[in-house]
Parts: sequence; C-alpha cells; structure tokens
Amino acid sequence: MIIAIDGPSGAGKSTVAKAVAKKLGFSCLDTGAMYRAVAWRALQDGVALDDDAALGQLARTHDIAFGHEPGDPAPKRVSIGGEDVTDAIRTAEIDRAVSPVSAAPSVREALVAQQQRIGRAGDYVVEGRDIGTVVFPEAAVKVFLTASAEERAHRRVRQNVDRSVGSIDYDEVLADIRRRDDYDSSRATSPLKPADDAVRLDSTGRYIEDVIDDICSLAQRARGQAAGCHPEQRPQAGVEGSPAAPAGGVEPR
Ligand code: DC
Repeated sequence: MIIAIDGPSGAGKSTVAKAVAKKLGFSCLDTGAMYRAVAWRALQDGVALDDDAALGQLARTHDIAFGHEPGDPAPKRVSIGGEDVTDAIRTAEIDRAVSPVSAAPSVREALVAQQQRIGRAGDYVVEGRDIGTVVFPEAAVKVFLTASAEERAHRRVRQNVDRSVGSIDYDEVLADIRRRDDYDSSRATSPLKPADDAVRLDSTGRYIEDVIDDICSLAQRARGQAAGCHPEQRPQAGVEGSPAAPAGGVEPR
C-alpha cells in the first residue's frame, strides 16, 4: 500500500511521513533527497543546471541508495554513486540548485522510474511533490500537506539549527521558500499541485501529532481495518513541525 504525501517545502512532510511509517510499520521514501542527490552530483561534475540531457544521463548512471538502521523505517543515510551525501544535500547551495535540476524532464523520468520500483516493493509512505499525481496515481491514500510560508520558514530555520547545516537567517530562508514555491508550482513538468482526490491538510498552527493521526486514520479507513494508530502512542513533535496551537480538522477536497 502507498501513502502519498505531497506539498511545498517545509510543510512538515518528512516528520509526518516518518511518524506515520513508524506507526503503521511502513517504509519511508524521501523523493526530494533523490533530486537533491542529483543536484549535488551535477555541481560536483560542473554540469550546467539547464542541460537536460547531461542531467538526465547523470541521474540514469548514478545509483541513489538509502541506508537503514535495523528497525527504523526511515533511512538515516543517502548516497549517490556510492558517495555518502546525507549532510551535503541539505546546504543552501543545494536548496538553490535543486529547483532547476528537478525541473529537468529527463531527470524526472529517471527518478520517477526508480521511485516506482522502490515503492512497489512494499508498503511505503512516499513524500514529494508529484507522488499522488504522477509517481503513484493509484496510491491508496493521498495527502496534500501545506502550511503558511512564514511558519514553514520558522520550522526550516529550527531544523537547520538542529542539523547544523543550511541557512539560519529567517528572511533568507523565507525568500528561498517563496522562490521554490513559485518554481515548483509553475514548472512545465509535474508542477506541484494536489491530486484531484488528495485530502488537503493545513498544518499551520496545528499539533503535528494531530496531522499524523489524521493520516493514520485515512490509511486505516483505506485499509478497511481498525488496527494501527493509537493516540496514546503519539511521537515527539519533529523539528519541521513543532506544536504551535491546538488542532484544526481534516479538510477533504
Ligand atoms: O522536499 P525537498 O525540499 O527535499 O525537495 C527538494 C526539491 O526537489 C524541491 O525543490 C522540489 C523537488 N522535488 C520534486 O520536484 N519532486 C519530488 N517528488 C520531490 C522533490
């Protein structure tokens, strides 16, 4: 079974995807990390970020791998072509380079094929921008997770402080988030938009645990069984989505 979680940068997708996967016993796939890894390789090789053919060749010929620790559904490490890039893909430089790389049709073609191969091998929570629309249009659960740009910038700054990578300047981060929102939603290939049958969840001012519970409920409903999530098993709020205010409701489209 696939749970697709799409949405803009900093909406809390990673935190939510990991927690939902843990509760339901699913694996996690962070497709943004794959685009970031290709962007990192392109910068290392001096490939022009508007050279679709060269970027596509790079994406096709460098294996992207995720390293798991036993019992943890969320991978801890990511590598491309055998090189560990876990921290290197979280810098401000990659934040800037990844937009044009992810807009390259041949990169998307190569990575979507890989994502489908990985996801079809088991039960996955897959997070990205086009998961419910392009990668897994047949996903059993589709969520479009959003939050205000300001709240997303605050979360990203906190995350960067915790990870000691990336910018910790709020205005710079907010400007980057707005730039990426525009870029991701206006690009010709697989623009960021909710699938017609996606449930929209706005995490602005909500406890992240409640968003997680909403998605688990959707998964249970899709499975037609009651097993899985119990409110008393709530995880700690993650760096991308610390509690800010009481919960709102699920907003089906
Ligand atoms: O989720 P993230 O910020 O790590 O994603 C990095 C970039 O990759 C972002 O600019 C959007 C792009 N992306 C995409 O185009 N499609 C996906 N499925 C995942 C990410």
